[in-house]
Amino acid sequence: KNASLIPSSQSNVLVIAHRGASGYAPEHTLPSYNLAKKMKADYLEVDLQRTKDNKLVIIHDETLDRTTTGTGRVKDHTLAEIKNLDAGSWFNNMYPKLADREFAKQKILTLDEILSYYGNGVKYYIETKAPEVYPGMEKELLAMLKAHLLLDKKSLQKRQVIIQSFSADSLKKIHKMNPDIPLVQLLWYTGKGKGQISKKQMNIYDDYAFAVGPNIEKIDAAYVKKVRGHGLAVHPYTLNDPNAIQKTLNWGVDGMFTNYPDRLHDAVFKR
Ligand code: G3P
Ligand code: CA
Repeated sequence: KNASLIPSSQSNVLVIAHRGASGYAPEHTLPSYNLAKKMKADYLEVDLQRTKDNKLVIIHDETLDRTTTGTGRVKDHTLAEIKNLDAGSWFNNMYPKLADREFAKQKILTLDEILSYYGNGVKYYIETKAPEVYPGMEKELLAMLKAHLLLDKKSLQKRQVIIQSFSADSLKKIHKMNPDIPLVQLLWYTGKGKGQISKKQMNIYDDYAFAVGPNIEKIDAAYVKKVRGHGLAVHPYTLNDPNAIQKTLNWGVDGMFTNYPDRLHDAVFKR
């Protein structure tokens, strides 16, 4: 499973559009994803929550307050209620220079909608968010991917879908259901000093994941070398500044999450 771990070069550093091209358009909306596709992102990043009536929807927070005109928890609202909300005006208010009337018309997308809209015309990098709040979400996610023909042999070979989570339990559940789906263990290092990763931890991740996704602020060149040396890929989040992107490319990472897919794409292909 580590066949992809050849040294990073321009053609194999993945441009992962974090919540779409969310530096330019409201995160997780169609304009954000369309722009990411136009900017030649390798993957569209999708954060999943679940509604009261058990529909998987694409939104980062467990609550509606920050990115919609609604309030309260996603899990306490039906999809019909959620579809009434405006998921773009917040962006226009926060970033007047980037405002666009179209943004105010955007609705929260369901997983089903985005998979129907792009089909196999894009690749998806999907996160099970708060899986402890949504028991069974993994099974529902896999069923939806299967219904959209994204788990067939060809799709798996092409890594059409990558699944990521901070929850090892969630990833292990998915791995048990389908060991061929490429998985990424997200990591969140806090506190003083750089994040540490032991051989023991890497052996555990290696059992189900092909990569780790650490927060960029807490890693360095030595971390990347150690993890890649073990045979795991490294996809840090979230890189937006061109100088930071360049520095991180030089460490030999295998991909990066960015709100500006154009910047990462430029940096990768100018090398
Ligand atoms: O999924 C990678 C990165 O997006 C994790 O952070 O909070 O933006 O989902 P978050
Ligand atoms: Ca995410």
